[in-house]
Amino acid sequence: MDALEELRQMHVQAQTAFRRIEGAMPDQRAGLWAKLRPELELHEKIEEQFVYDPVAREVGPRDQTLKAWEGEHEQQAKEADGIIARIGELDPKDGQWMTEFQTLVSMMDRHIAHEEQDIWPQIRREWGEDKLKQAGRPVGAAKSAAEGGASVSEAFGRAMQAAKHAF
Ligand SMILES: [Fe+2]
Ligand SMILES: [Fe+2]
Repeated sequence: MDALEELRQMHVQAQTAFRRIEGAMPDQRAGLWAKLRPELELHEKIEEQFVYDPVAREVGPRDQTLKAWEGEHEQQAKEADGIIARIGELDPKDGQWMTEFQTLVSMMDRHIAHEEQDIWPQIRREWGEDKLKQAGRPVGAAKSAAEGGASVSEAFGRAMQAAKHAF
């Protein structure tokens, strides 16, 4: 599967989890959040490492949007990390937790829409199917490691390993 398709599936999973948490009873939030949090962290990390950073390096000044996106993405991921950390300090059973969670959800929904609608079509044009398939190997390796219960750093390590063989 190509890298953007792997990443798109992760978006679907994350957005399904957002909706599930929004509709859950307060005492179910903690368990659902404990599963979602590392998935979000891993997703942003692998996007940067295997897609946004290399594509920005390759296009250089030739494509200002993709070149700038690397930094913008890092900024947005940092912002999300800040909200995630604040959520972690609150009690999932409190209303304030849900307010903060919804801040994260609306930020992430915007982030995901921008990636899928504005950034990815340009990456697809730039890289073509072969390169996207190559980049799909480490992304897929991270994803299946995480699904098998690996931590963020273990899953990331697995992806780095797969990238060595892919490129
Ligand atoms: Fe992202
Ligand atoms: Fe994403």
